[in-house]
Amino acid sequence: MKHSLIILLATFVLGIPSVASEGLRLIELAPGKRVWLTAEQVYKLSLQNHFSKGVCAGFIDVTKHPENVGRPMQSLIDFGKLEPTKQAIVNPIITLASPQPLGLRDQQIEGLGLRYYGSENGAKAAQWIQNEFTKMAAGRNDVTSALIKHDFAQPSVMVRIQGHGSHADQRVILGAHEDSIVGPGADDDGSGVASLLEIFRLLMVSGFVPDRTLEFFAYAGEEGGLLGSGEIAHEYAQRKIPVLAALQFDMTMYPKNSNLVVFMTDYTDAGLTVFVGKLAKAYTQAEVKVSRCGYGCSDHASWYRNGYPSVIPFESLMNEYNPNIHTTRDTGDKLDYNHGLPFVKIGVAYAVELANLEE
Ligand code: BES
Ligand code: ZN
Repeated sequence: MKHSLIILLATFVLGIPSVASEGLRLIELAPGKRVWLTAEQVYKLSLQNHFSKGVCAGFIDVTKHPENVGRPMQSLIDFGKLEPTKQAIVNPIITLASPQPLGLRDQQIEGLGLRYYGSENGAKAAQWIQNEFTKMAAGRNDVTSALIKHDFAQPSVMVRIQGHGSHADQRVILGAHEDSIVGPGADDDGSGVASLLEIFRLLMVSGFVPDRTLEFFAYAGEEGGLLGSGEIAHEYAQRKIPVLAALQFDMTMYPKNSNLVVFMTDYTDAGLTVFVGKLAKAYTQAEVKVSRCGYGCSDHASWYRNGYPSVIPFESLMNEYNPNIHTTRDTGDKLDYNHGLPFVKIGVAYAVELANLEE
C-alpha cells in the first residue's frame, strides 16, 4: 500500500514515468530464483529493497538475455599473484588528487536532478556526462566516446582511451551508474560518476597514454535491474571482446569522517579483489575490509555473469551504508568528499597498473 502510494505520487504528482516499458519482465531474485513481474512490480521492488536497511536484496532483469548466466570465467591473467609495480607512473598522478574537484563534480551531478532511466531528464544527464568527458579530452585524438542506446530513454555513455601497446585489443574497464531512482542520487551513484570524471581528468592532465585500451562507462538503468550494463556486458561476451577487468564504483562518499574502503566478495573475482585491495594499501591510507552485498547489487554483477573478472570497492560495510539512498534525501550535505578520495586514487592505480601490465 505504502509503495503503491509512492508510485502514484511519482507518476501523477511529480510527473515521473513509473515504468520503463510495457509487458512482463523476467527478474532474477537469486541464483536459480526467477519470477515474471510487471514493470510496476519491478519499480516497487527497486524501492522496497532499501526500505529495510541492511538488506541489499538486489535483482537482475534478465528478460533480454536469460541465457548468459554461468559463462565460465575467462580470466586473462592470475590476479591473485599480481603486485603493484607502476609506482613511478601512479604516484605523480595521484598527488594531483584532491577532494574539492571531486566534490564539485558530485554537486554538478546532484544538480542534474532525478536521472530516472525512463525519462528525458535521464537521457539529458547522459549527454551532459559524455560532454564533460569530451571537454577534458580536448586535443587527444586517441580518445573517443559514444552514447549506447537501449530500449528506454537513457543511453549509456562510453569513453575510450585507445591503447598503444601490443595488447591494445584488451580492455580495462571502469564504471558507475548514471541513473537515479528517486531524487538526485548524490551518493547513489553521483559519487561513482564523479569518481570516474575525476579519474579521467587526472589521466588527461598527466598525459597518460595506456598500453591496453581503457574504457569508462556511465551505465544507464542500473536501478531497473542492471539494464544498461547487462546489455553491454552481454554484447562484449558475444563478440568475444577481451576484457582484463571491470571495476565498479557505486557509493563512495558516506559516511563522514570515514577512512574505509570495503570490497564486496559476491559477484566479484576473488583474485582481482585481492589485487585491487593491494592497490588500496599501496596508494592510499585507507583501511581495507570486506563485506557482502547479498546479491547482484550493481553493474559489476553484469560483467561477472558474462564471464569477466569484476571488483567493487564500496563506501562502508553492508550494514552501515548510506540510509538516504533511493530517497530525495540522498544529497551532498550527507556526504564527505574526503571519503571519496581514496576511491579516486584506487581508480587511477587500477587503470595504470592494469593498462600497462607487462605480459
Ligand atoms: N547502489 C546500490 C547498491 C547498493 C546499495 C550496494 C547499498 C550496497 C549497499 C544500487 O544502485 C542498487 O540500488 N541496487 C539494487 C539492485 C538493483 C539491481 C536494482 C539493490 O541493491 O537492491
Ligand atoms: Zn541504487
